[in-house]
Amino acid sequence: MSPSMARRIYRFLLFCFCASHVLAADTLYQGGDSLNSSITLVSKNGLFTLGFTRLGSAESNASYLGIWYNNDTSHPFWLANRGKPIADNSGVLAIDGSGNMKLTYSGGHPVEFYSSQSSASNITASLEDSGNFVLKDENSGSQQVLWQSFDFPTDTFLPGMKLGINHRTGHTWSLMSWLSDLVPTPAGAFTFEWDTNGTELVIKRRDVIYWTSGPLRSNTSFENFFLNAGDLNFSFINDSNADEDYFMFTVSANQFTPQGQRNFSMWQLRYDGSIADRSTGRVYGGSTCKGNNTDGGCERWSGPACRSNRNSFELRSGSFVSTVPRKDDYNSSLSISDCMDICWKDCQCVGVTTRGNNANNTGCTFYYGSFTPDPSGRSVQYHIIVQEELFLRHDTAGKGNWVLIVLAFVGFVSMMGLAGLLWYLRRRRLREKDLIELLTLDSTNDTLELENDGNRGHNLTIYSAATIMAATNSFSADNKLGQGGFGPVYKGILPDGREIAVKRLSRSSGQGLVEFKNELILIAKLQHMNLVRLLGCCIQGEEKMLVYEYMPNKSLDTFIFGKLIMPSYYKVNGSLFLKGFGLG
Ligand SMILES: *[C@@H]1O[C@H](CO)[C@@H](O)[C@H](O)[C@H]1NC(C)=O
Ligand SMILES: *[C@@H]1O[C@H](CO)[C@@H](O)[C@H](O)[C@H]1NC(C)=O
Ligand SMILES: *[C@@H]1O[C@H](CO)[C@@H](O)[C@H](O)[C@H]1NC(C)=O
Repeated sequence: MSPSMARRIYRFLLFCFCASHVLAADTLYQGGDSLNSSITLVSKNGLFTLGFTRLGSAESNASYLGIWYNNDTSHPFWLANRGKPIADNSGVLAIDGSGNMKLTYSGGHPVEFYSSQSSASNITASLEDSGNFVLKDENSGSQQVLWQSFDFPTDTFLPGMKLGINHRTGHTWSLMSWLSDLVPTPAGAFTFEWDTNGTELVIKRRDVIYWTSGPLRSNTSFENFFLNAGDLNFSFINDSNADEDYFMFTVSANQFTPQGQRNFSMWQLRYDGSIADRSTGRVYGGSTCKGNNTDGGCERWSGPACRSNRNSFELRSGSFVSTVPRKDDYNSSLSISDCMDICWKDCQCVGVTTRGNNANNTGCTFYYGSFTPDPSGRSVQYHIIVQEELFLRHDTAGKGNWVLIVLAFVGFVSMMGLAGLLWYLRRRRLREKDLIELLTLDSTNDTLELENDGNRGHNLTIYSAATIMAATNSFSADNKLGQGGFGPVYKGILPDGREIAVKRLSRSSGQGLVEFKNELILIAKLQHMNLVRLLGCCIQGEEKMLVYEYMPNKSLDTFIFGKLIMPSYYKVNGSLFLKGFGLG
């Protein structure tokens, strides 16, 4: 070995030992070693780490004591001092000789997690395999838990944590979002709570209900909480007794992701008000609540009369032309959702961003005047308030007397649905059995097809909820194509690679199963026209979805003058822009 090689190896070893002093342990002892910025605790299973990490913009880059999963230090799922950032490396966590556990640092008051009232002499704090950091009195007979991090969640919900209330102590368990992607301060806009009366999950924005999951159904699912992505087996627990009222979830073992070895899930309440799986990014709820839409559990935003039921925020790229200058609000305790709320309540406001030059992504800039979208998507993105307009065009090879506004259209669909059904029943001799078959579908069966009528054929496939969830990445915001009057439309990819557009009919459309069936038949009937093709449907509990063929890479013109039955538009300053498409 050459001397230079030896030197390099020596330096490498030196680096290894100095750079990460792992306190080769998962436990702190009373009066024993303390934890500082160069030491971490690691759970026995190696998945969780307790230590100091630096967060935030390069500007602030403050130090926090946190617990993270799988070396992901950028957003620990638990933070000990989210309201008291440490400016330097001086943080130290220890259990002192008298049994008090506290975090001390230079230039600030210590954060005390537990102060011993007794003469306990053998207190330990262990990072357990669940990710819970637990303080115990080893000498008490029952190893009594004195304090645990799971009782003080930040913005992430882990298996075994509770949401709800402890009636004895009055302690409530709830989550609070970060203020922005960079600022963990406990003044985020959103909280995630368990409503013990309604037995449902609730997201609130500044104490106002923003989203609800719908009641827990036989401990397995919530109407508006889209969990069953097929890769994890969740169990929900709702316990209500004299001492406690809480919700909890677990993930059963032997569950594997395509990547390998995960049987674990963390639900993060993101700063934008959505709940998503931390590892996969799958959105479970709350991501569509952007104004007056009520699909997916959203509550309408309160606002002035100028905001109609068809107004909502959309993220759009483009630019503003205005004689009214934009307005900055430097208040660093405003999250983007607060900004949207302020804009919503101001009839003049057209769009909003976080204050552009603010490294923490807090504060607001409000825009007025007129907005011109940039179809290339390369311009700056703004949250703009759009008004949805719905049009139906007659299919006459492009020219098009295609202006029928929504009311006319709704009437048209209902009448045509009925007429179509009657006509269909007579002409195609559709038997009652077929209807009943569709209405009582076992929607886990992916292969069931309606009878082919032998002529143009409508081969409608009944898709299982799991297939649709997997195809649309659990209706993730990224997959959303747009919002139709009766519900949002999502893009998806079937296992066979076919691209689809899935339209979720919102409950508020008031459509029953029979109307849904009528609509299906009507559309299937219309297939011979130059229309976007309906592939089938999916019925899951109260939720009904239409599955269309997706037509990729179509220009605006194609959508307007081409093949789609019902493009939907949003309206800014009197001009129409294509938004997506769907039935209604
Ligand atoms: C952390 O503690 C270890 C052992 O007590 C010590 O060697 C190290 O210098 C400390 N690091 C800091 C940054 O204080
Ligand atoms: C503290 O508790 C541990 C575990 O129960 C035990 O092994 C140890 O002897 C105890 N130490 C003292 C000083 O009581
Ligand atoms: C899911 O978990 C439940 C109980 O935890 C178990 O009975 C069931 O068999 C599991 N399902 C799968 C597909 O593993």
